[in-house]
Amino acid sequence: MKFQTIIEPFRIKTVEPIRQTTEAQRAAALEAAHHNVFLLQAEDVLIDLLTDSGTGAMSVYQWSGMMKGDESYAGARSFAVFESAVRDITGFAHVIPTHQGRAAEHILFSTMVRPGDVVPNNTHFDTTRANVQDRGGVALDLPAPEARAPHSAHPFKGNMDVEALERTLVDNPGRVPLVMITVTNNSEGGQPVSLENVRAVRDVCTRYGVPLFIDACRFAENAWFIKTREAGYADFTPHEIARAMFALADGCTMSAKKDGMANIGGFLAMNDPDVSLRCRTRLVLTEGFPTYGGLAGYDLEAIAVGLYEALDEDYLRYRVRSIAYLGEKLTGADVPIITPTGGHALYLDAKRWLPHIPQSQYPAWALSLVLYVEGGIRAAEIGSVMFGLQSDGSERPSDFELVRLAFPRRVYTQSHVDYVAEAVLHVGTLADRIRGVRIVQSPPVLRHFTSHFAPVADRLIAR
Ligand SMILES: Cc1ncc(COP(=O)(O)O)c(C=O)c1O
Repeated sequence: MKFQTIIEPFRIKTVEPIRQTTEAQRAAALEAAHHNVFLLQAEDVLIDLLTDSGTGAMSVYQWSGMMKGDESYAGARSFAVFESAVRDITGFAHVIPTHQGRAAEHILFSTMVRPGDVVPNNTHFDTTRANVQDRGGVALDLPAPEARAPHSAHPFKGNMDVEALERTLVDNPGRVPLVMITVTNNSEGGQPVSLENVRAVRDVCTRYGVPLFIDACRFAENAWFIKTREAGYADFTPHEIARAMFALADGCTMSAKKDGMANIGGFLAMNDPDVSLRCRTRLVLTEGFPTYGGLAGYDLEAIAVGLYEALDEDYLRYRVRSIAYLGEKLTGADVPIITPTGGHALYLDAKRWLPHIPQSQYPAWALSLVLYVEGGIRAAEIGSVMFGLQSDGSERPSDFELVRLAFPRRVYTQSHVDYVAEAVLHVGTLADRIRGVRIVQSPPVLRHFTSHFAPVADRLIAR
């Protein structure tokens, strides 16, 4: 390429103002939110990196598609458009629309999983795990060893441990109703899975006669990593790579709030006519008629367009580059992050950055609070607040203490990313003075969403 700068591959047609706030206003907002960024009012946030789910900007083609939405209860034209896009990209014969990813998981697992069954995954996402457990099943994480080495430069740290999968199938005959593989692997830092790994998993599944389902939320980002990192795929389009990946599986669950480029939606797709019939029966109970699932006709249109836009090479190059760009700025200033940077998010490593804060005082949570007060940036803790509480009520420190900066799709520009880098580097100048937090009040499950916190000292940042 003649020029180095990778530009945002879009022009901005509609803007949503963001409100500037002072540090004093943010400190007051955080106090009112009980030191929990989930309890902040979104309008008090300058740059919102809490999640990449459902927070993206839609294109003119998606909005114009929405105007064509057919809201007929049964047989809507919009379903045919949606079904043909999903079939074209995944190759699966049966397409079942759902209101979001977890609804697809719920329908699939309530159809296939019985109490005592084991469902292996490279790493389950929270909702996937919860839906397996809700059926009385065991959600077994089998990440490849490289996934757990935060600083290894392995290009596919999202891979599954294929030998461990085979052992699981040997040890649990008749008790594994399906195997899942999550691309990219969100819970291991948004790291990709290689096609070679999916193929190896497929081979094991075939040998043991167990179906393979892909948790496909970020299938397009994963395809881009395969194109750019795995030998032999540089000349293939992301669409061709995605097709090759789906061709190795028997079905998929999908949250269209990620690589469907939509604000809501999802689907379940598969080849097995009997299982899909049973899933459709459940769909009617919990979501809606099979030609709309939990969605409006206009949502189906937006997703049909968005799935192709997510596979656009210029978009993917910009998307992955903006996170790598932030990563380079931070590693250049010795800020500890998980490397290589993933597809949808960058992870600050609070355990290494704030070694003076014990895990019992939640260093990553404290770091996320300081990031908000100092820079107006909202990010999510992935550490001992999220994972420390055990089902028997005891507390176990998490393996990692991370702050995840997740980027909404097509929302922020390079100057926003520059600002984020500047704010993070500024927080670095305060690192020694940041103090931990304690939990004041918390619910028995999923405590990160609603718990109340307080600094352990008088102030979050010592004078
Ligand atoms: C890997 C993965 N699977 C499943 C889901 C659930 O999707 P949804 O939020 O649409 O229910 C998510 C959401 O973040 C995810 O990241």
